[in-house]
Amino acid sequence: MSRALNSVPRHVGIIMDGNGRWAKKRLMPRSYGHNAGMKAMIKISERAAERGIEYLTVYALSTENIISRPADELEGLYNLLRKYFGENAQKLCAEGSAIKIIGDLSALPPDVEELLKKGEANSPENARFTLVFAINYGSRSEIARAANLAAAKGGITEESLENELYTAGIPAPDLIIRTGGEMRLSNFLLYQAAYAELYFTKVLFPDFTPAHFDKAIEEYMSRERRYGGSR
Ligand code: IPE
Ligand code: IPE
Ligand code: MG
Repeated sequence: MSRALNSVPRHVGIIMDGNGRWAKKRLMPRSYGHNAGMKAMIKISERAAERGIEYLTVYALSTENIISRPADELEGLYNLLRKYFGENAQKLCAEGSAIKIIGDLSALPPDVEELLKKGEANSPENARFTLVFAINYGSRSEIARAANLAAAKGGITEESLENELYTAGIPAPDLIIRTGGEMRLSNFLLYQAAYAELYFTKVLFPDFTPAHFDKAIEEYMSRERRYGGSR
């Protein structure tokens, strides 16, 4: 194993990509892949909590996905939330963890919006682990919204802008993992990821296990972060 330079990351983001291809390989509809992805996500969030990671941000649906995916695929995703979110949110909160939702919930079906907000509202204070659920999330709209809010309150500085981002109060991600083989951020945490370490894997998200997650964490721990300093 490589030498550790960093401790366990405080905040990890995951771009959970590859559900559709995973289903296609099995000659199944995309919703089958999203279902398997949801199960993988629950396991990864348990692993993250076990490892002492404080925040795990999961990218579940982008602002572009909501515009560009067929209605039946979106409805399938909402049905998955209806099926899994309430029960798992309750379980997480009962274990002392918290849920935070980031993104524009107003475009979701009202019952889904309510379900997500309820999960967030039932979260304990001062949780050791927070699952940050990014849904109808896009960095560009987040930044534009924050800029407007900061300007209305007296001016835009890095600090005033950060205070208006959905992620206000959450440390910047140390590590961003993308599954599914694409090497891009697809509008995820663009501002917050300024000094994040990036980790790309070809593993499709439904196949991404806690052991794969551990491998990404080990790789992160062996990297040298310089923040503009010299070696
Ligand atoms: C990621 O999987 C999940 C969402 C974007 C909702 P995809 O649905 O993008 O799967 P691929 O990339 O087509 O395989
Ligand atoms: C990114 O995946 C969004 C999520 C995983 C929620 P996409 O499949 O939408 O990304 P692109 O279209 O390949 O960039
Ligand atoms: Mg994709």
